[in-house]
Amino acid sequence: MTRHPADAANGTAAHASEKGPAGELHALRPATPSDSAHDRAVVLELRHIAKSFAGIHALRDVSLRLHAAEVIGLVGDNGAGKSTLIKIITGYHQPDSGEIVFRGERIHNLTVQRARALGIEAVYQERALAEQQSLWRNVFMARPLTRFAGLLNVRAMRRTTASLMRESMGFTSAILTPDTPVTGLSGGERQGLAIIRALHFDADLIILDEPTMGLSLSETEKCLMFVRSIRDAGKSAIFIDHNIFHVYSVADRIVLLDRGTVVGDFPTSRYSLAELTAIMREVAATGRFIEPTRQSDDGGAA
Ligand SMILES: Nc1ncnc2c1ncn2[C@@H]1O[C@H](COP(=O)(O)OP(=O)(O)O)[C@@H](O)[C@H]1O
Ligand SMILES: [Mg+2]
Repeated sequence: MTRHPADAANGTAAHASEKGPAGELHALRPATPSDSAHDRAVVLELRHIAKSFAGIHALRDVSLRLHAAEVIGLVGDNGAGKSTLIKIITGYHQPDSGEIVFRGERIHNLTVQRARALGIEAVYQERALAEQQSLWRNVFMARPLTRFAGLLNVRAMRRTTASLMRESMGFTSAILTPDTPVTGLSGGERQGLAIIRALHFDADLIILDEPTMGLSLSETEKCLMFVRSIRDAGKSAIFIDHNIFHVYSVADRIVLLDRGTVVGDFPTSRYSLAELTAIMREVAATGRFIEPTRQSDDGGAA
């Protein structure tokens, strides 16, 4: 699987250095000069997003950029604000303040319908699919193909589902047909179906909130493979998972949230899994992260 060079740290200038909630200065990764050779279009930009629920600051000041063909891993402890952030991006919640810019257009009053129409799709663990329904019904659940007078074009939907199963999901078993109910799929395959469906309907941004929850190891692997296929299709994703191993294996960049604030933005090409794990531990314990002087940076200074 090809990995794109992590050119994406360009997006972090807005929070290169900022006061944390308790007033302490968070040492953040400085924005790098643009790697213009690898510059890809910014798909989504969040500027200073804040959201409170009854006095609880779920998000304080979140700025973020996501590029085309890029997967961001969003990590942070329980209550960090991950789900709130993606609910804002999918139009489920409106931010109290801040801006959402999608493909260069500032979006006011984003709703779930509008987000979908713009090409923002969410894949949730539980709610993604109707389990008792056939695969083809699930693929076309929200957007059925119709013929004249609004009649469902069942043949076309079956045919398209069969080709998606074969070509995009790699299903070769004769037991699985477009008429198989979703209960006939394993957990990883179900997530895959939801992802393939989103890609088929031309989603530009696919959001996955803990898609591997409750999956076995081999099913998790399948699910992660489908997440990688999003980037391979030139589309973007925000991937949330408790497990840093999962996130690290698919993300170009890891954004670490803590108590409603972005405390760091780490290209996986420049940070090892061990470094990131240590950083996350430090943030969980102290609420902040001070970038250590890296050996390669201090050039043997005394
Ligand atoms: N609908 C809601 N009503 C009240 N509080 C909420 C709501 N959604 C989230 N919160 C609070 O906002 C904070 C962030 O939650 P959430 O975004 O779910 O975090 P995460 O997904 O990172 O675990 C938590 O303190 C949570 O209790
Ligand atoms: Mg959550």
